[in-house]
Parts: sequence; structure tokens; C-alpha cells
Amino acid sequence: MVAFATEHVIDVQHWNDTLFSFRTTRDPGFRFDSGQFVMIGLETEGRPLMRAYSIASASWEEHLEFFSIKVPNGPLTSRLQHLKPGDPLMVTRKPTGTLVLTDLKPGRHLYLLGTGTGLAPFMSIIRDPDTYERYDRIVLAHGVRHVDDLAYAHYLEHELPQHEYLGELVRGKLIYYPTVTREPFRNRGRITDAIADGMMSQVTGLPPLDPSTDRVMLCGSPAMLDDLCALLDGRGFQASPRTREPGDYVIERAFVEK
Ligand code: A2P
Repeated sequence: MVAFATEHVIDVQHWNDTLFSFRTTRDPGFRFDSGQFVMIGLETEGRPLMRAYSIASASWEEHLEFFSIKVPNGPLTSRLQHLKPGDPLMVTRKPTGTLVLTDLKPGRHLYLLGTGTGLAPFMSIIRDPDTYERYDRIVLAHGVRHVDDLAYAHYLEHELPQHEYLGELVRGKLIYYPTVTREPFRNRGRITDAIADGMMSQVTGLPPLDPSTDRVMLCGSPAMLDDLCALLDGRGFQASPRTREPGDYVIERAFVEK
């Protein structure tokens, strides 16, 4: 059996000069859990060039969706950013990853904390009805440098709450917390600071993060993960151990191509 399928691009959305999303066809036999990633890529000079990408679409959708940065000289993203409808894309058949609901202990509130393209796995998780079964409130925090890096903001604020099947769950339970560090915005500053100084709690109306009620998923740069792990560990949260026993929080590095 071949290790990857060849899918085809359906459409591409350019958010700004540095970020874009695209949707592809999906092999009907391909299954994944919300929050997982696959390797995707293109054939270059006769060889596959593959990188890990979180799947941003829901596991029940007929297509696959990916959210990417554009790096001018990045071996893969410099090519991916020019994708057009109909173009082929290689997708491995083995989804994997640590940002899955079953790796967390039961809890009341789920915090999905992402910076940059670290939003991608959470776009899948917030479109999974199981997420709303498991938690009373879901906070989706997206930290970016500039306002126009807030990809999916319009969708999250205006479209998803009106979604035919998910809308009611989303309106009742999902709290979107976008925050911007390098220009004026209604929420300013890093996610770490917003948690530490109580700003996030003030905006969401939820109590400060507490391992007795809250579960957390992190996706961002190594520095963001280090700082948030330290913050959570300091409050008594336990990371999901490698043995795959459920924990209070799980982490994964966001994709960045150098
Ligand atoms: P800042 O502008 O203060 O660096 P990047 O594109 O570099 O991954 O950054 C995306 C967002 O993550 C930016 O808002 C950035 O803030 C923020 N960020 C960078 N490092 C950290 C960190 N260690 N903890 C929390 N947020 C961070």
C-alpha cells in the first residue's frame, strides 16, 4: 500500500502576505481524530518534500483543510503558497499527534491556547461536537503579532455561531479570545501575560486557571510552549505523560518552516 494519497486542491484563501489556508479533497477512507496532524507535501525534483501539518478541518467534513505560513525561501511553503484549485498534494495516510481530547482527564473548561499557525489543530477541535459534549466552556485563545494575522476571526465570530449543526453549541459554550502583541487591539499582549495578570479571566468571565476544573491544549513556538508549561506547572497542572495516560494538559509545536 502506498504511504500517501494524492489529493487535489479545492480552494485557497490568502489571509495576508504571510498566512494562507487551503482545502483539498479527502480520501473517503481516511480517518483522523480532531487535533491530529499529517505529513503533506509536493513532489520536487522527483522526490517528495513533506512537512507535518495539523488538520484544521473537522473529522466529519468531506474535505481536508490546512493553515500555513508563507516563507519566501521555505522549501515547501514557498511552493505551497502558489497552489491553485486542481493542483495535486500528497497527504500521508497516518494521522498522529498529542492534541487529542482523549489524552485529557475530564474537566469543566477546555482552554485551547495557540499562537500563529498553532491555531490550526484547534480549528478542528472546535468543530467537533464531542468537544462540546465533554466541556461546559471552551476558550479558544489565538495570540498573534498583528491584527491581520488573526486568520479565521470573521469565521469564528460570525459564521461558526450561525452554523447549521454546531451553531447552538458554539453560541452556548465557545469563547474566542484573540490577542495581538504588536499593534492596538481590544485584547493586547501575550497569552501568557493575559493568564498571569488575570486579563483573560476578566474577558472570559471564567475563574483563574485551576487544575481541579480546567484542561489545556497548547500549540505554538518552543518559547511559547516553555513559558506556558512553566505557568501551568506552577499552578499544579500535570502534562499528559508519554505513556498516553490522560493528563491536565497536552502540548504540540506549531509548524514553522525556516
Ligand atoms: P510577541 O510579538 O511579543 O513576540 P510568532 O509569530 O513569533 O510565533 O508569534 C506569535 C505570537 O506569539 C506573537 O503575538 C508573539 O508575541 C507571541 N509569543 C512569542 N513568544 C511567546 C511566548 N514565549 N509566550 C507567549 N506568547 C509568545
